[in-house]
Amino acid sequence: MSSSRIDSLLAEMTLAEKIGQLCQVQPHGRDQEDLVRAGGAGSLINVVGDDAYHYQWLAVEHSRLRIPLLLGRDVIHGFSTVFPIPLGQAASFDPPSVREAAATAARQAAGAGVNWTFSPMLDVVRDPRWGRVAESFGEDPLLASRLGVAMVEGYQGEGVAACAKHFVGYGAAQGGRDYSETAIPPRQLHEVYLPPFEAAVAAGALTVMTGFNDLDGLPMSGHAPLVQGLLKDRWGFDGLVVSDWNSITEMAVHGTAADASECARQSIVAGLDMEMASSSWRHHLEALLERGAVSPQRLDDAVRRVLRVKERLGLFETPYGRSRPAETPATAAFQARQLARRSCVLLENHALLPLGENVGRVAVVGPLADAGHDQLGCWVFDADHGATHSVLAGIRERLGDRRVSFERGLDRCRSDDEHGFQAALDAARSADVVVLCIGEDAGLSGEAHCRAFIELPGAQQRLLDQLAATGVPVVAVVFTGRPLALGAVADKARALLLAWHPGSLGGPAIADLLFGESPSGRLPMTLPRSVGQIPLYYNHKNTGRPPDPDSPRVPSGTPLDPSGFFAAYLDEDHRPQYPFGYGLGYTRFEYADLELTPNVLAPGGTLAASFTLRNVGARAGTEVVQLYVQDLVASVTRPVRELKDFRRVSLEAGESRRIEFELRGEQLAFRGLEGERIVEPGRFRLWLAAHSQTGLSAEFEYAERIADPVGQRDEAPTEEVPAELP
Ligand code: BGC
Repeated sequence: MSSSRIDSLLAEMTLAEKIGQLCQVQPHGRDQEDLVRAGGAGSLINVVGDDAYHYQWLAVEHSRLRIPLLLGRDVIHGFSTVFPIPLGQAASFDPPSVREAAATAARQAAGAGVNWTFSPMLDVVRDPRWGRVAESFGEDPLLASRLGVAMVEGYQGEGVAACAKHFVGYGAAQGGRDYSETAIPPRQLHEVYLPPFEAAVAAGALTVMTGFNDLDGLPMSGHAPLVQGLLKDRWGFDGLVVSDWNSITEMAVHGTAADASECARQSIVAGLDMEMASSSWRHHLEALLERGAVSPQRLDDAVRRVLRVKERLGLFETPYGRSRPAETPATAAFQARQLARRSCVLLENHALLPLGENVGRVAVVGPLADAGHDQLGCWVFDADHGATHSVLAGIRERLGDRRVSFERGLDRCRSDDEHGFQAALDAARSADVVVLCIGEDAGLSGEAHCRAFIELPGAQQRLLDQLAATGVPVVAVVFTGRPLALGAVADKARALLLAWHPGSLGGPAIADLLFGESPSGRLPMTLPRSVGQIPLYYNHKNTGRPPDPDSPRVPSGTPLDPSGFFAAYLDEDHRPQYPFGYGLGYTRFEYADLELTPNVLAPGGTLAASFTLRNVGARAGTEVVQLYVQDLVASVTRPVRELKDFRRVSLEAGESRRIEFELRGEQLAFRGLEGERIVEPGRFRLWLAAHSQTGLSAEFEYAERIADPVGQRDEAPTEEVPAELP
């Protein structure tokens, strides 16, 4: 798509101005004024507030062509108001709330001059050791796609460009070590790692960022088949592709380029349109063009894309942002509290919760009970720390100071110094219940913050063990940026609430749940028992010798596996501690009367799967109903289950409701042997379930093979993957 404004700008631009548009620079104070005045930067990163407005003013009032700047910032889970980390938001299974949070973050960021956020991070993750799992939506491609789209809509609806990152496969970093190589088989790449990006592009994401990772031999910032070939040519993405921080010049360290000039050449030829941080394009593009190593068409295409994003944001008309109604902090706080409530996952509750307001004395204990900064999690440059409310504050607000005592027990999460234990034990003994806030501080997750072990750090487990030994019931509230191995916590605590890093209003939100509102978060990632089980995810393939799902190590003993060798461990249970999709509330839901109509799905048709959901407990609650499917026989092996849809349903005590989902043929598509997207005829199993290891189930049939599930049948498949793509 072209516009006359972009055409005439291109016609007027000097080569230096064109190259300038493709460079993103981080100023330190006002040290880039001359560059911006000369039209030498298309974008600045990490300038907010007065500096952002100042630089924008220089660009639109004092540069020759008056082209506005893209002003980028990592607005990852909120701006001044911090929402739960993305992994926590994923646990809400609540796209509308995620969209609303992104819109609020965008309004706050735009008020500080920002017009581009480097979010959402759409990397699917199967390894909790990776520090950036905190920034992800977890292990499921459908959940990541839905929530990614919600964030894109939220940001862009408020005039802030979204950035789908990190294209692609970065979440598969080997060993969970950040930046490590990734080796992803093509089928997995297309079925697991690419779908969230395809969904974000279809939803109109204006920008995409390439990853740091080497994917099967090619660093992603030089990956022509996937960036130019798939993203741009096949998917038709016409926004801009930005590198990651220095990821272009890091190709020389990876070893696919000898020097910065070659890094520049490979990256622009691969389809990148803007260089973040490093300056190989500024220094080498002109010479590369002169010697014909980069075509003028590619250069102009990149410039066009940068200008197009600026035009779509409306920056030529309103470079300082659209005028919006002032954000009321109270609205943002309300949203942050609600999303934090919906993000918490209740993993255990042995007749302890909810506490109710008439609970006697509460001992609030633990290094995270009153740690405002740590409950925010990673990537919170712009947080209003004064507006953070801890669990201690939330509980005191409800019960008053008199009934609440507080002892940290440990100064910091990672500390082994037990000198504070005695005071914590004394506080516990004079209380009726202990609320113990433990887990990971904010510095244990995020970029380059990976862990080899996923138990509680420091002496926190010992603190819990000793508190539990007092006999006073303990509610463990676990803050974390990743799935942790929580078996030992579950053994000692009477109730266990997984709060992730819940953001500014985390404290009051947790208090809401402890004292009455039924938790409704569900796990967006499998929680393993130990690090030795990783990777462990629900949508795995079957083996020829599956272990018994109901037993830790005992084989299933089917006639097919007489040898006694099974896909299990000798020294560890093969089952997760808690499965994907799992979470409790204060009531119980029953699933009954599943009906499929019809039970043969024909191409172009739909199948209605309905059942009755009944709240059989004594309290109101919210269930996250999950629809899973397994393709029972196909030309390639298929996962044991795949999430196809989900819905939050709130019911009063005793209420029941008929819930219906619609399933279409294209939702059954997979990548066939030839790399084409197909739906094969045959038998499928469907579950309507509370989590990935349970549910009402029934079989249905898909009637006929179709080559192109999205378009017309009997035509050449439009989804075929060209041979040169991985
Ligand atoms: C991260 C990106 C981030 C960028 C800009 C990089 O180190 O990988 O996710 O957007 O920095 O801060």
